[in-house]
Amino acid sequence: MKVMVIGGGGREHALAWAAARSPAVETVYVAPGNAGTAREGGKVRNVDPGEGFDSLADFADAEHLALTIVGPEAPLVAGIRDHFDARGLPCFGPSGAAARLEGSKAFAKSFMARHQIPTAASEMFDEGEADAAEAYIRDHALPVVVKADGLAAGKGVVVAQSRGEAVAAMREMLTGGRFGDAGRRVVVEDFLVGEEASFTCICDGERALPLATSQDHKPRDDGDRGPNTGGMGAYSPAPVVNPEIHARIMREVIEPLMFGMAVEGAPYQGFLYVGLMIGNDGSVRVVEFNCRFGDPEAQPVLLRLRGDLVDVCRQALSGELDEAALEWDPRTALGVVLATKDYPAAYPTGAVIEGLEQEQPDTKVLHAGTAESDGAVVTAGGRVLCVVGMGGTVADAQRKAYGRVAGIRWPGMFCRQDIGHRALRRETASARIAAGSAKA
Ligand code: AMP
Ligand code: GLY
Repeated sequence: MKVMVIGGGGREHALAWAAARSPAVETVYVAPGNAGTAREGGKVRNVDPGEGFDSLADFADAEHLALTIVGPEAPLVAGIRDHFDARGLPCFGPSGAAARLEGSKAFAKSFMARHQIPTAASEMFDEGEADAAEAYIRDHALPVVVKADGLAAGKGVVVAQSRGEAVAAMREMLTGGRFGDAGRRVVVEDFLVGEEASFTCICDGERALPLATSQDHKPRDDGDRGPNTGGMGAYSPAPVVNPEIHARIMREVIEPLMFGMAVEGAPYQGFLYVGLMIGNDGSVRVVEFNCRFGDPEAQPVLLRLRGDLVDVCRQALSGELDEAALEWDPRTALGVVLATKDYPAAYPTGAVIEGLEQEQPDTKVLHAGTAESDGAVVTAGGRVLCVVGMGGTVADAQRKAYGRVAGIRWPGMFCRQDIGHRALRRETASARIAAGSAKA
């Protein structure tokens, strides 16, 4: 059978790579893909039918595709799944109604309130309510978090350390037109303390099959400093999600969500990404929902997948997820994002990337913002590559990833040097405890 992955980032390179491992799949089209998917070889091929839902659906129809997997949130929120459904074409991803969990933070917050899903306390304010929002912020403890309601390419969240900063952010969104319509409503919420983790499931409308856990690093600079980004690296598994926390996430978040969406008439089918804050007391609270796989979380998670991605997505589409089981490579996968100077602000493109051909064992380079130009691979985005290393320990995976990073360069390339630091600290601490009890 033939399948298609829609999108052109690092997540889509990982999805295409994983889909190609399915023995029943003969071709994986990536629309439009990037230089990495163009050079992946084997079953993977780039196609460019255009971004319009009709052109994508026409292509899926003409090629008799057994499955289309949608990578990014924008087409999902805009209803691509509904469009494919109307034409009887199998498409994995939530309907527009279900994708509101990501498309509207106001919807997500009120949904969580309706279904007692733990999250930060919050208030919503519309365009005409800037003064009320200001009064609310003036009374709020610090830090305080201001979020644009709609999609803002990961830039719509301000964690404000002062009330002045929060008020300015709120006014820029509500009345200053920042983020356009996405900012005409804001959510102001409590700052949550703890360690973040990413929890992704494949959902069939009723049931949710959890994938391997992961953790990303949103701030740009080492030590989790600097501006927020889409993610500067990620690893899987996330040791903070121990079996107890895992069970709690399923019970307190995933199960009520699946039930709630179904009873509200928008059953959730597709990848569901929950960003969580795990408190020191073991509490779990939702920071955000995404209606798609995380990027860069998908890269390390999918490299660990031993099951058949295409099979399980097709089972989810036919509502038969309980028959599915996934196995995971027990090793840690750790991905380091290589970005271009000035990211997440405006960045230059078109620099030639060198060193990509120097393969190393237990590593894989997944492309994000790359393009081909005159036979070379050039930068075409802020986040350019994700270099993943696999190892028996976090330290080993980290060493392998950075070993491969060392051979890759272009003018203006940068990356964080400390991806995995939390997991590494946990690993070192448990090794110390184990050594201590061995001595005793
Ligand atoms: P979001 O787009 O909602 O994921 O927010 C981006 C990032 O901002 C999250 O990954 C967190 O690091 C941070 N953040 C968002 N909301 C909160 C919150 N209520 N408390 C603490 N950090 C938050
Ligand atoms: N890495 C976070 C996200 O994909 O939203």
